[in-house]
Amino acid sequence: MSPTSDFFDVVVIGGGPGGYAAGLYGASAGLSVAVIEKDKVGGTCLHRGCVPAKEFLETAAVYRSVNGAAEFGISTSEPKIDFSVSQNRKQKVVDQLWKGLSGLMKSRKIETIEGTGKYLGNGRVQISDGRIIEGESIILASGSVPRSIPGFEVDGKIVMTSDEVLSLTSLPSSVVVIGGGAIGCEFASMMSDLEAQVTVLEALPQILPGVDKDVVDVVAKSFRRRGIAVHTGVAVSGHTPNPGGGTTVHFGDNQSVSVDAVIVSVGRRPNSDGLLGEETFVEVDQRGFVKVDPYMRTSEQGVYAIGDLVATAQLAHIGFAEAIVAIKHILSEPVVPVDYSKVPWCIYCHPEVAFAGFTEEAARAAGYDVIVKKDPFGGNSRARIVGETDGVVKVIAEKMPDGSAGKILGVHMAGPWVTEQLGQGYLAVNWEATPDEVSQFIQPHPTLSEAFGETVLALTGRGLHVG
Ligand code: NAI
Repeated sequence: MSPTSDFFDVVVIGGGPGGYAAGLYGASAGLSVAVIEKDKVGGTCLHRGCVPAKEFLETAAVYRSVNGAAEFGISTSEPKIDFSVSQNRKQKVVDQLWKGLSGLMKSRKIETIEGTGKYLGNGRVQISDGRIIEGESIILASGSVPRSIPGFEVDGKIVMTSDEVLSLTSLPSSVVVIGGGAIGCEFASMMSDLEAQVTVLEALPQILPGVDKDVVDVVAKSFRRRGIAVHTGVAVSGHTPNPGGGTTVHFGDNQSVSVDAVIVSVGRRPNSDGLLGEETFVEVDQRGFVKVDPYMRTSEQGVYAIGDLVATAQLAHIGFAEAIVAIKHILSEPVVPVDYSKVPWCIYCHPEVAFAGFTEEAARAAGYDVIVKKDPFGGNSRARIVGETDGVVKVIAEKMPDGSAGKILGVHMAGPWVTEQLGQGYLAVNWEATPDEVSQFIQPHPTLSEAFGETVLALTGRGLHVG
């Protein structure tokens, strides 16, 4: 089949992490693939999400390092921030990755079509220029967009979502962050490190809902010490623009705070508006997510949906994993569906958060008797050396009838570079390994990852440094 015809083995709508991964994986298997993208391949993750947000968090880390240099005997003048330079650097990083991805897709002979795709049914996809192409299989991967809340009309100046924040060329000196989830905590951390006065307003009783409480405590304590005001369990009722600029945000019991800007980070909604024609059998739930089974199949045969468009964890790497499941299913190969209860989560605020598997609370709620061990980074040599001792590694194992530790149910981390340390914890959880098995592996010394080894060793009943 010629990749320049109007018929492809697979037509993918959306070129974000879900869509481009489906393209790359499908093309590596010899399928002819078209990816329809209305903006730039790379999607939210590369252009308006993960990559630019982490790049700015690195800017914040550099600023922290320079500020803390005197402790190491290095004298510097007081650091100053020129955020337009930071913005240019971020854009350079994004553009390089974008060029790399575009080149890779081209080299795999994926036909990238510019435009908005609409799935009409019967394998037919209409592009916004009127052209209709056909696919033996279709993968819907149109992603998500930021949600807003009533009373906070996004104007890109005073009220922003992640889309606007990541394009700023100067930083507001004070912000309210509405929503203390992953995006909210990352922005709060970054802005505070770069000298903004930050207030976080979270509706639920804790920031980072769903994250293990011991890990949340580390982040909450660090935020408090750095002067970030966190109000949990509060409703936000609206805002009144100030005559001289900025606005006053109203929340809780007649409380208010006056700030330069508001960042709304209350979740993302699926981008399914206008995606489906009337003749498709693809079903969408009440919230707009496309309904799928564990093989990412929609209600219409031959049509799959992946990534933020479906009601699974909205993480780029889950989009990759779901793309592989869909392509393998298309190829009629054996395929293991994603086990969403054991996927890796990484949040890049300072201190970082990373975890996989059950939290202690969720494990108990699921009926497990558990054994839990924790190793704070304060006792870890490398953490002392780098001067980043806030944090903990917590491992939860099933308690066996004889009192010993059975399979590892959850690994939870807060602290320096834990997003890079989760790997072995993720493997342990997914392999359903026991502490006896995992503790046989040697951790290099001195490393941050020793904290995981120490915690697992402690679960065998005989720890070195952890009791
Ligand atoms: P989220 O669902 O993680 O957090 C939204 C937060 O806003 C929740 O804590 C929720 O209780 C709160 N909230 C909702 N309505 C509110 C209101 N009216 N007032 C106050 N608080 C309210 O969503 P977020 O942070 O916007 O991220 C969107 C998606 O992107 C999530 O699925 C997230 O997992 C993913 N993401 C993941 C990252 C990571 O893993 N590093 C980074 C950024 C995003």
